[in-house]
Amino acid sequence: MLLKIGSITVRPGISLAPMAGITGYPFRLLAKEQGCPLLYSEMISARGLLYNSRRHCHLLYFTEEERPIGFQIFGSEPAVMAKAAVQLEALGVDFVDLNLGCPTPKVTRNGDGGALLRNPALCSEIFKAVSRAVTCPVTVKLRKGWDAHSVNVVDVALRAEEAGIKAVAVHGRTVEQGYSGSADWDIIAKVKESLSIPVIGNGDINSPQSAGAMFSHCGCDGVMIGRAARGNPWIFSSALAWLKNNELPEPPPVEQLVETALKHLSMLIDLKGERVAIREMRQHAAYYIKSLPGAAAVRQKINRASSYQETENILREFCRCLLND
Ligand SMILES: Cc1cc2nc3c(=O)[nH]c(=O)nc-3n(C[C@H](O)[C@H](O)[C@H](O)COP(=O)(O)O)c2cc1C
Repeated sequence: MLLKIGSITVRPGISLAPMAGITGYPFRLLAKEQGCPLLYSEMISARGLLYNSRRHCHLLYFTEEERPIGFQIFGSEPAVMAKAAVQLEALGVDFVDLNLGCPTPKVTRNGDGGALLRNPALCSEIFKAVSRAVTCPVTVKLRKGWDAHSVNVVDVALRAEEAGIKAVAVHGRTVEQGYSGSADWDIIAKVKESLSIPVIGNGDINSPQSAGAMFSHCGCDGVMIGRAARGNPWIFSSALAWLKNNELPEPPPVEQLVETALKHLSMLIDLKGERVAIREMRQHAAYYIKSLPGAAAVRQKINRASSYQETENILREFCRCLLND
């Protein structure tokens, strides 16, 4: 469970998956507060970073307490990817991660993200160009393959290793699958058997126990938690407790859910201003409260709120109602 990415060492190798629209600075900090050992940024367009960096300043914001932190870029031009990595290194990120898994048509239609898996030779060029351009470690996040007929993650991961990439994360679904079906943990095990660099398993960890199960099943050096962390940064403290001594902490009480959601909103406001933050908070708030009775009606109210004060009133009233029930 020791994960070494170049000179970065984390134990146990549990990480927050990169998630566009979710893993900005506020959420990463909440995950870190729950002990998440390794953080990734949301994906950032390599071209966007080079040619329109001011638009990306919110995405690039991070703080010392988040270290070690990796920033992820997507794109398909080796020279552009390399220059973007240099820019990230200059900002002081601990490592640069390359996105070779995004299934979103807006990304794949340009040959970026998961579409790169259809062109292994280009993958090798990108790996080499980026590895040569920076001194910090470079990692890669892959899917199983483009579709069920072209499962080539072992080949692409070997190319990564050969090019000097320091670790690979594998999401056990094909690009065509999107998020449907279940993640294939056997393919993650196969990548681990085939490589000497560290392998991080990803896909369908939805509890502390399943984090442990992925380590055992895949023999991987690290695991990466995505969707199950949304509105639930406590999954990291629970997974750490489970892996350490098979203990499962109590889930957070409703007051803590509400306080954490409000802290998340405050940080989003500081970063992006109230108007944008209120809009972005809608999805986060829905995840924080999703397991509570009456959440659907409260979600609708939050969706209509236009200020911090209004959102706070709705959440505190919800909390009072639940505690008085
Ligand atoms: C809303 C959302 C945004 C995502 N954005 C990214 C991203 O920016 N980069 C990336 O490599 N993967 C992205 N992913 C994929 C996740 O990192 C992860 O591979 C996937 O959700 C499977 O892991 P899970 O089953 O733990 O959620 C995203 C997933 C979701 C749900």
